[in-house]
Amino acid sequence: MIVEGIVTSVDTAGHLNIAPMGPVVTGDFARLLLRPFQPSTTFTNLAATRCGVFHVVDRVDMIAKAATGKLTQMPPVEPAAMIDGFVLKDCCRWFEFTVDSIDASSARSRMPLSIVHQGERRPFFGFNRARHAVLEAAILSTRLHLLPRQHVVDMISFLEPAVEKTGGMEEKFAFTMLKDFVLSQPETMSSLHKTS
Ligand SMILES: Cc1cc2nc3c(=O)[nH]c(=O)nc-3n(C[C@H](O)[C@H](O)[C@H](O)COP(=O)(O)O)c2cc1C
Repeated sequence: MIVEGIVTSVDTAGHLNIAPMGPVVTGDFARLLLRPFQPSTTFTNLAATRCGVFHVVDRVDMIAKAATGKLTQMPPVEPAAMIDGFVLKDCCRWFEFTVDSIDASSARSRMPLSIVHQGERRPFFGFNRARHAVLEAAILSTRLHLLPRQHVVDMISFLEPAVEKTGGMEEKFAFTMLKDFVLSQPETMSSLHKTS
């Protein structure tokens, strides 16, 4: 199963990076397989430091902001217990990991992880259609170079009623931000190629 969440990593100078990522999870987080694209800051950081933190979250504003490069203010963090990294203060669960190996033979790398420490801050809030819609919209906004732009715009329209009907202010704000981001992006050469 793929669980969407947030990975924090640091570069060799210790600078924090926050990115939404969806590792393949086996069992109750017994094993994780992370697949960061090259080039991404997460890939570069993990290749250099071989450690990071995966967070299970239930709020979507940070995911939406990080996906669109709008995370201008770093959220509150505290030092990880067992690795050189940082844990988000606002999360449900976190998993400090080390990278076992790196297969960088394709653009989407493969990194099996070992969990070296884990913790729980608060219970998962509960399923909410608007939050799931924001999550989908955030993923789509990071795939504009792979998908036809019109497909992404159509999917955003499909997702919007769930946000309107079931979301709170946070979800509505995040969705509007993502929608504006998608609508402001030009058609890329790659997506033009795919539609032709
Ligand atoms: C919910 C969600 C899950 C994502 N999962 C992945 C993933 O597994 N691998 C990946 O390379 N990018 C994934 N992305 C896209 C990255 O978050 C995006 O490319 C981001 O810009 C990478 O940030 P970075 O360069 O700071 O690492 C995901 C995005 C979202 C919204």
